[in-house]
Amino acid sequence: MDRFQVVLQDRSYPVFVGMGGLEPLGAAMAGVLPAGPCVLVTSPRVGGFHGDAALASLRAAGFSPARVEIPDGEAAKTLDTWVHLVHALLDAGIDRTTPVVALGGGVTGDVAGFAAATVLRGVPLVQVPTSLLAMADAAIGGKTGVNLAQGRNLVGAFHPPRLVWVATAVLSTLDDAEFGSGLGEVVKHAVVADADLFAFLEERHAALRARDPVATAHGVRRCCALKAEIVAQDERDTGVRRILNFGHTAGHALETALGPGTIRHGEAVSVGMLAEARFWAARGGDVEVPARLSALLEALGLPRAPPPVPDAASFARRLVAAAAMDKKSARGTLELPVPVRVGCVRLERIPRDDLHSLLSLLSSPETS
Ligand code: GLY
Repeated sequence: MDRFQVVLQDRSYPVFVGMGGLEPLGAAMAGVLPAGPCVLVTSPRVGGFHGDAALASLRAAGFSPARVEIPDGEAAKTLDTWVHLVHALLDAGIDRTTPVVALGGGVTGDVAGFAAATVLRGVPLVQVPTSLLAMADAAIGGKTGVNLAQGRNLVGAFHPPRLVWVATAVLSTLDDAEFGSGLGEVVKHAVVADADLFAFLEERHAALRARDPVATAHGVRRCCALKAEIVAQDERDTGVRRILNFGHTAGHALETALGPGTIRHGEAVSVGMLAEARFWAARGGDVEVPARLSALLEALGLPRAPPPVPDAASFARRLVAAAAMDKKSARGTLELPVPVRVGCVRLERIPRDDLHSLLSLLSSPETS
């Protein structure tokens, strides 16, 4: 296992990354938390694949885990699921020292994390991501929350985990579409901060598309290292961490406008990254970024344009309404991470009126 430390004064935590499975999870957890009761929060689907292995590992290390299931999928990332989970945690008899172990994809991690942040004013959290998207991004950094009708992640809390356990062997149970979506976040990290990773993705795109475990683990490891470093510099997302929002202004608007379950998060980020890179190139930015990005997304089988919609005019209106709720918007301007070159992004404030030209790129036909 590789170990990366998210260095945050008294809230530092380790991120373990390896190609194995969940067997050593309990022992790693016993290294940071006292053995005793804990609650494994998972979905029926992920729990069906990996729940027993996780429970066995926790028991072997001296924990006595309860198990709670919540639905997964973006449509389940709601206040209702959070309420249900908080009741279930209290019914399981937790106290302030009882860790919540989130076993699942980004939705499980975000909802279980938000419950851990809020129940009893906060209990310890362990993140065990099982999707590529959560491994590459969401499980590290302490962002937790749920979506509202008005937009994604509009209610939430920063709640750093005590441990992140990234075991890439569990990706074998992920379906191809979810795996592909996760590659979108891997590409994002490469554009934002790692030109070598970008070159690796270009070179090894066929292996990654075929889900080669070694190539995948390399990509995940690089993303975890980068994320740990960036979060350590800016835990609360007030500065440099915001570069990780590259592709997300357009991507989140797209997800909200299309409605839950229509496009996967990593796919929306894929479309969003290309739109934002093209938008910036049209304003004098680097033209190589959208060109290389478009070729890479295509090679990895990621979308570069939204799916067809029946009513383009109403879709365009929903995009604008969704973008208006963006958390990065302030005093008539919107903060956008813009690519300086592959592997380097900077934050730029753009007039809110320019949003329309950015969003119009989401309705243009797919081109390379
Ligand atoms: N997903 C971006 C961040 O954690 O800041």
